[in-house]
Amino acid sequence: MLGKIAKWMQSKELTAGKDELELDPNLIPEHVAIIMDGNGRWAKKRGLPRVAGHRAGMKAVKEVTRAANDLGIKVLTLYAFSTENWKRPKDEVDYLMKLPQEYILTELDELIEQNVQVRMLGNPEQLPSFTVEAVLEAKERTKLNTGLILNFALNYGSRDEIVQAIQQLAGDVKCGQVDIEEISEEIFNRYLYTNGLPDPDLLIRTSGEVRLSNFMLWQLAYAEMYFSEVYWPDFSKRELWKAIYNYQHRNRRYGAV
Ligand code: FPP
Repeated sequence: MLGKIAKWMQSKELTAGKDELELDPNLIPEHVAIIMDGNGRWAKKRGLPRVAGHRAGMKAVKEVTRAANDLGIKVLTLYAFSTENWKRPKDEVDYLMKLPQEYILTELDELIEQNVQVRMLGNPEQLPSFTVEAVLEAKERTKLNTGLILNFALNYGSRDEIVQAIQQLAGDVKCGQVDIEEISEEIFNRYLYTNGLPDPDLLIRTSGEVRLSNFMLWQLAYAEMYFSEVYWPDFSKRELWKAIYNYQHRNRRYGAV
């Protein structure tokens, strides 16, 4: 069934035509979240090692960030490393851990110039200190910017996030800071990594896979989902525009008629 939905979405996507897509500036999603998938297959197709796919994926991050900022998207959340990705070969994990630092070293000046704010969501505890320090430095140096919030999900797992939120909330109940009766969705939101951010309006997953992989399970409750066949390293500004074009032709009802 989901495969059929993905195919139907592809055909809808094609109706956007080959020329410049016309996007409605009043219907730009506030928060776009992306599961960047297909780096390994992109590399395999070219006879390259998997890490070459991740390197190429970093280029796509640059292009999509710029395009999102230019469109006036407020938040772009990118799933860069999940709590399950530790199961990959050590060489690949080591490589992935170096990418945020490299990205920040080469891109920070431009991100500052573009008025982008860098943030992170996920558990920093198991991450190498150089990865966390690079992200924290970028966060600090961009904290007064007012443009796109570029949120890297690193060592992020939605179930892990929910469990840590419950632990903290239970602690606050125990010490009398929160009454059980006053717990609401709004209060619960404050304990999540995404505290203060709007929920994603649009979730994009690349590479033809149609699943959530433990990504923002709470926050995606009413997101529109868009599945692209394109491998992440080939996901371009135009692919982002196609996803938004598709989003703009959905009918969001939030459970109403
Ligand atoms: C999934 O593709 C991709 C990842 C687990 C890593 C994503 C990371 C990047 C795109 C680079 C991040 C860049 C910065 C700046 C942090 P996969 O390897 O599972 O692909 P496959 O399913 O084809 O094997």
